[in-house]
Amino acid sequence: MKRDDGLEPNLEDLTTTKNIRLEDLVDRDSLKEVITSFVNLFGISVRLFSSEGDLLADAVEQQEVCKVINEYPDGRAACTATISTVKHTVPDPTQDTVHPCFSGARYHIAAITYDGRYVGRIVLGPYLPAEVKELPGSLLTTVREAPPSRLQQLLPQMPRARVETVRNIAEHMRGILDLILFSGHKALLTSQMHLASVRESYRELQDKNQRLQDAYDKLKELDRLKSNFIATISHELRTPLTSIIGYSEMMSEGIAGSLTDEQLEFVNTIRDKGEQLLTLIMSLLDLSKLESGSLALVKSDVDIRKSLDDVVSLLKPNATKAGVQLHVDVPAALPTIRGDANRIRQAVLNLAENAIKFTPSGGQVSLSAKLAQQVLDDAEDDIGFALIAPTRSVIEIRVADTGIGIPENEREKIFTPFYQVDSSSTREYGGTGLGLSIVQRLIHAHDGKISVEPNHPKGSVFILKIPVDLDA
Ligand SMILES: Nc1ncnc2c1ncn2[C@@H]1O[C@H](COP(=O)(O)OP(=O)(O)O)[C@@H](O)[C@H]1O
Ligand SMILES: [Mg+2]
Repeated sequence: MKRDDGLEPNLEDLTTTKNIRLEDLVDRDSLKEVITSFVNLFGISVRLFSSEGDLLADAVEQQEVCKVINEYPDGRAACTATISTVKHTVPDPTQDTVHPCFSGARYHIAAITYDGRYVGRIVLGPYLPAEVKELPGSLLTTVREAPPSRLQQLLPQMPRARVETVRNIAEHMRGILDLILFSGHKALLTSQMHLASVRESYRELQDKNQRLQDAYDKLKELDRLKSNFIATISHELRTPLTSIIGYSEMMSEGIAGSLTDEQLEFVNTIRDKGEQLLTLIMSLLDLSKLESGSLALVKSDVDIRKSLDDVVSLLKPNATKAGVQLHVDVPAALPTIRGDANRIRQAVLNLAENAIKFTPSGGQVSLSAKLAQQVLDDAEDDIGFALIAPTRSVIEIRVADTGIGIPENEREKIFTPFYQVDSSSTREYGGTGLGLSIVQRLIHAHDGKISVEPNHPKGSVFILKIPVDLDA
């Protein structure tokens, strides 16, 4: 509950009743209802004021005699003065105040306290004390012009009660207000406690968010440093390595004089291992460039049939050596795509190398491509939306093998750099675990998607979807 001054009380304020105000705790409509029922019961008007003297609720029965008094200027002035005094009288909390009216009537003013604190007052009246039997002199002298017979006729119509009875009515009303105040205070406390705890959780959440954001920023910075580091190191390694490979090539070609068979074998080993190392370094460089976003695609119209054919002719010797059959299946009329031909070939080459590597002798590896429609964005997962969801034209490239397959729980992880399903030191297959992470980033750089599925009855299928109109 908001206070009029716009300040919300804090918890400390609430648990004491120091700042409790009558108008904060009970709503005016229920107050009005309570006092109206009193007026109906006893016929005496009731007004309820806050501790500051603001009228909070009233139920007033206009008395005929008062109307007549107010018809005369002297009467009106005297009536206004009486009411003003009554209104501004702060009663003694231990003892009610009784204020007489010149008409002979009385007002009864009772304090409302809550938890020992004065929070407002009840004004009952006017009523005529039981003992007043005839027109009081004060009335006759105040409204001289009024015909006494009229006053005589109307005054007795005013509700008559004994002072003691009115005190009892006030006491009774106080009891009821006390109950209302108590439950109002309880409700206020509960809602404020709730608010405070919500505010506290919100603050905690904000703190945690900030800490998460800080941690994320730090990690991002570390990641950037790591990529930079890899890029620098790889670059520095590549230069001497090209010399090693170059010189060992020259030696094996006999440029530096003829070699014995054993020397030739050693030099060839140096060259092969050097090339292997160079491939690894190039992969690291690619990965760091892809991660930092600094790899620039050299775009042209790419003929996918040619890319697949290139890959097949490059890998044919490997496949034959491994006893694996290689197939290509591309429809005659396949649109070209806007992309980097070398990078797309590199991606397919990586997948095909893996397919051959993880397929035992006697197996098959097939490369195929076709035009397809891809459902865009998140809608893809939602069958209900798929019917109306926007789609785009993609070239779908599939690299399928009949090899060892990839367990379902590994299918996400294999795209992580350096991740290999079998990472034991005794593993059967060579490699560094960088290939797929590079392929994935290359395909993402083309705004494409990569996924992997099991092949039937065995093996894996890697699927690339690259948009046809990348620049459109
Ligand atoms: N066609 C495939 N069949 C079975 N497993 C595969 C296939 N392709 C990739 N994998 C698994 O994914 C891992 C990561 O592949 P990759 O990133 O190319 O690294 P690498 O080939 O150097 O091991 C491989 O080590 C292998 O466990
Ligand atoms: Mg690989």
